[in-house]
Amino acid sequence: MSTTTTIIFLLLTTITTTIPTTHSKPPNYPCHPPHNTYPFCNTTLSLHLRAHSLLSLLSLSDKINRLSNNDTGIPHLGVPSYEWWSESLHGIASNGPGVSFSDGPVPAATGFPQVILTTSSFNRTLWGSIAAAVAVEGRAMYNVGQAGLTFWAPTINIFRDPRWGRGQETAGEDPMVASVYAVEYVSGFQGGRVEMVGGGKRGGRRRVLIDGGGGDGGGEELMVSACCKHFTAYDLEKWGAYARYNFNAIVTKQDMQDTYEPPFRSCIQEGKASCLMCSYNAVNGIPACADRSLLQKARTQWGFNGYIASDCDAVATIYEYQNYTKSPEDAVAVALKAGTDINCGTYMLRHTKDAVDKGKVEEEVIDKALLNLFTVQLRLGLFDGNPLKGKFGKLGPANVCTSDHKKLALEAVRQGVVLLKNDNKFLPLQKSSVSSLAVIGPMANATDGLGGGYTGVPCSPTSIVEGLKRYVKKTTFSSGCLDVACTSNAGFAEAVSISQEADFVIVVAGLDLSQETEDHDRFSLLLPGYQTGLVATIAAKSKKPIVLVLTGGGPLDVSFAQHDPRVASIIWVGYPGEAGGRALAEIIFGDHNPSGKLPVTWYPESFTKVPMSNMNMRPDRSHNYPGRTYRFYTGDVVYGFGHGLSYSNYTYNILSAPNSLKVIKSLKTKSNNILQRKEGLHNYLYVDELEEHCDSLRFQVEISVTNHGPFDGSAVVMVFARAPGSFKGAPLKQLVEFERVHTVSYKDTKMTILVDSCKHLSIVNKFGRSILPLGDHTLLLDGIEHIVSIVM
Ligand SMILES: *[C@@H]1O[C@H](CO)[C@@H](O)[C@H](O)[C@H]1NC(C)=O
Ligand SMILES: *[C@@H]1O[C@H](CO)[C@@H](O)[C@H](O)[C@H]1NC(C)=O
Ligand SMILES: *[C@@H]1O[C@H](CO)[C@@H](O)[C@H](O)[C@H]1NC(C)=O
Ligand SMILES: *[C@@H]1O[C@H](CO)[C@@H](O)[C@H](O)[C@H]1NC(C)=O
Ligand SMILES: *[C@@H]1O[C@H](CO)[C@@H](O)[C@H](O)[C@H]1NC(C)=O
Ligand SMILES: *[C@@H]1O[C@H](CO)[C@@H](O)[C@H](O)[C@H]1NC(C)=O
Repeated sequence: MSTTTTIIFLLLTTITTTIPTTHSKPPNYPCHPPHNTYPFCNTTLSLHLRAHSLLSLLSLSDKINRLSNNDTGIPHLGVPSYEWWSESLHGIASNGPGVSFSDGPVPAATGFPQVILTTSSFNRTLWGSIAAAVAVEGRAMYNVGQAGLTFWAPTINIFRDPRWGRGQETAGEDPMVASVYAVEYVSGFQGGRVEMVGGGKRGGRRRVLIDGGGGDGGGEELMVSACCKHFTAYDLEKWGAYARYNFNAIVTKQDMQDTYEPPFRSCIQEGKASCLMCSYNAVNGIPACADRSLLQKARTQWGFNGYIASDCDAVATIYEYQNYTKSPEDAVAVALKAGTDINCGTYMLRHTKDAVDKGKVEEEVIDKALLNLFTVQLRLGLFDGNPLKGKFGKLGPANVCTSDHKKLALEAVRQGVVLLKNDNKFLPLQKSSVSSLAVIGPMANATDGLGGGYTGVPCSPTSIVEGLKRYVKKTTFSSGCLDVACTSNAGFAEAVSISQEADFVIVVAGLDLSQETEDHDRFSLLLPGYQTGLVATIAAKSKKPIVLVLTGGGPLDVSFAQHDPRVASIIWVGYPGEAGGRALAEIIFGDHNPSGKLPVTWYPESFTKVPMSNMNMRPDRSHNYPGRTYRFYTGDVVYGFGHGLSYSNYTYNILSAPNSLKVIKSLKTKSNNILQRKEGLHNYLYVDELEEHCDSLRFQVEISVTNHGPFDGSAVVMVFARAPGSFKGAPLKQLVEFERVHTVSYKDTKMTILVDSCKHLSIVNKFGRSILPLGDHTLLLDGIEHIVSIVM
């Protein structure tokens, strides 16, 4: 997942040195005099020693009391309560009990777009910058007692099925994209890669680079803690008899290795996440939080240094829904022994004592869990005394909802919005030629619904109607349907009548959380209720063709609109968050050139015949199973992965790339052991046997992007590869690299991407092992093909 350009994160956040206001309540903290003489409070000692020192002072019951998200504190050591559960998926969110917007001086936090829309920008810098901004707001809210320091984001599961209610929270269907997103989020968030600009005492500006060190340096210190969730193969809420609590995901070795696992591996190896969350579902018969080999793999193979939290009540579900154990105590014992360090919920509080008494789990196992928990708390500085005097102590209410953060939220929507259709360059609308506008649809005048799942209270939300009114004073609105479910067409007449009076009509259709959310998958990919009728009716009756704006995170089958010439343009805005209304209007009126690309395949309604419970990525023709995602699915699509138009027309060229690469056998290494293997007629090598030879198999591809239009704009360059031969289960193609580049109207822009054959051109065989096929690999760039032959 190497980045080709060196990305320097300098979030130019203007951080004033405001001390949190007096009416805010500072967080309670341990190591407050007279409780500051314990070795665990002594900052000159190693974290290892300090964690062991704390542990050594605890009785068994003290220890058991630490095994819940709601840690009620250790009064005899002066350790106050600590709530582990705070949420920060795309802004500080109210979902966890650790965050409060009502009890303190911070009433709101910046509402960035839901992750699926931010992903559409395919801009790594943006992803990391948002995470860094959310981290500042989180630490600032902690300082006034309104948030914890341990946040349970990002959600890095693969968006495997279009019906999934939480697909919106993810970075889409491609494992490489999800991996890059995970790394950017976690390193941006934990590392505190923030340049603080503070007012110096004498008015001079003082720059302080806060380096939390959690980023790439492998440092120990954390500004805030991020959590890679949900490990693993979790992407079903409720479908038929299946619920996330009892679901047993049957996953092949091949799919595990090249689809489900990569984002987690990257999140930990490269992102250096300090938390991993195990999911409710079982994987091949073992509930994830009870699966020792799954959880330990993260520690032993990926170098995980952090704590493992169960999803909320996922320890209870081991017994109650998965029926994996005979008693609650067995569930607790198996989870602890597998490596679950803390239980979101109270199950461990209630059953661990009995489990120990009955000899089902040893106290040493609990000790290990607590050491993992304490170490993360120590890395966060929780035992370093007054947090307001620490490195991040100056962050406060003035660092939340800053104009820079709000601009970043706006920028994210501008970059993410996807133009799906634009007949005859209908958009952008000319400001001067629009004297009136009608805006139709149940979401058009809403602000609440635009955040998507896991939101907080946004700083200054704008509705779509408000955004458009900035451009056209005479903007009228009619909801057409009572709500997004749209179970009646009673409002159509009014909507038609205001549409007929306007120059231009924008219909806002799609989804909100009543249709797709946690615990709620969809059954259909069509627009809900009478929404299709609303769009078609307005399109037929308005003066001119209409613009259709789609909200929601999941793919929609809007083929009726795709084929209807009366629907001139279709724009997908996802859940755009607080700046959505404004950014959408800028795009519609040409003040911003859209450039987002779909990070997920938009399937037709017929896809709903596929059992959602089938985890296989690969097609199975004998069972009429079409496979999933652009890598394997061969059926029709409404809009494909990577689709997205712009007001410019871009063409691409491969300027240079090698035609062949040779795996050089060298005598001084063990390369003589590299064996050429065969599957059918095709030769391949094992990637794990190639090791240092991978260096000689790295190459550059020089690309030019030509902007043929009258607008400057950013283009998302995506290079895919197709492996030679017909290896069993090989993807149709897979993404090698992506890069968002700025281009100038009527000019060429050159860029270079780096391809690491071992990583990017390898595929996974049915035993879950990475292989590098020999022969002609095809690089694909927007219809251009280039062959790179790998030979021995
Ligand atoms: C902290 O530990 C160091 C090293 O053992 C010791 O010299 C120092 O006195 C300790 N400080 C306090 C306040 O106990
Ligand atoms: C945490 O536990 C304490 C003690 O049991 C209880 O009073 C409090 O309500 C709990 N807090 C939450 C958010 O559940
Ligand atoms: C687990 O047991 C409960 C109660 O005995 C039962 O209702 C449920 O169907 C079982 N679930 C599974 C996944 O076997
Ligand atoms: C649109 O929303 C605004 C702000 O919430 C509200 O004042 C107004 O009444 C709404 N308009 C309609 C027609 O519902
Ligand atoms: C884009 O521009 C090129 C070069 O002018 C032209 O050949 C091509 O037809 C254009 N494509 C579209 C979709 O307008
Ligand atoms: C990527 O995002 C950053 C941060 O918003 C922005 O400054 C940059 O211009 C974006 N890059 C492109 C090519 O759009």
